[in-house]
Amino acid sequence: MNIVLVEPEIPPNTGNVARLCAATKSVLHLIEPFGFKLDDTQLKRAGMDYWQQVEWHRWKNWSAFVEKLPAHARLWFVESNGAKLYSEAKFAPDDYLVFGRETAGLPKKLLEENPERWLRIPMFNAQSRSLNLSNCVALVLFEALRQQGFKGEI
Ligand SMILES: C[S@@+](CC[C@H](N)C(=O)[O-])C[C@H]1O[C@@H](n2cnc3c(N)ncnc32)[C@H](O)[C@@H]1O
Repeated sequence: MNIVLVEPEIPPNTGNVARLCAATKSVLHLIEPFGFKLDDTQLKRAGMDYWQQVEWHRWKNWSAFVEKLPAHARLWFVESNGAKLYSEAKFAPDDYLVFGRETAGLPKKLLEENPERWLRIPMFNAQSRSLNLSNCVALVLFEALRQQGFKGEI
């Protein structure tokens, strides 16, 4: 699987996602600008020594990332209020799971242009606006891996 973080801001979230990617052999795509420096100690601590095991790519902006996507690439946009539940999507091994910024989420334009690829994780408390970014990545990534029968488990 491919995990895409658009303009991540909080180092421990990106570190946790890097660790998830290492454990699941997923490719991590980080889209600039970041809210931290890549040598941030919190980022390293949260990813522990897993960073060396992660295939990760850094992209100057969204357009630079999209330009280099393979022709067959299928993107899923994970953001609150999507019409589709993440558990209703049928994921394929090379799909891209795209997540938004901690403070702002994914750009509205991107979501409105891709309504059939906009996935929500259900919420049960109207007072709670959103879930933590790295928790969202874990939930959706493991649903995608479950659908593939956890193929490759050691
Ligand atoms: C902290 S949230 C973004 C902030 C949020 N838009 C707000 O209202 O404050 C960071 C990212 O986590 C993911 N996320 C959080 N809650 C979600 C939910 N209920 N369904 C789908 N994605 C969610 C999205 O990718 C989102 O861009």
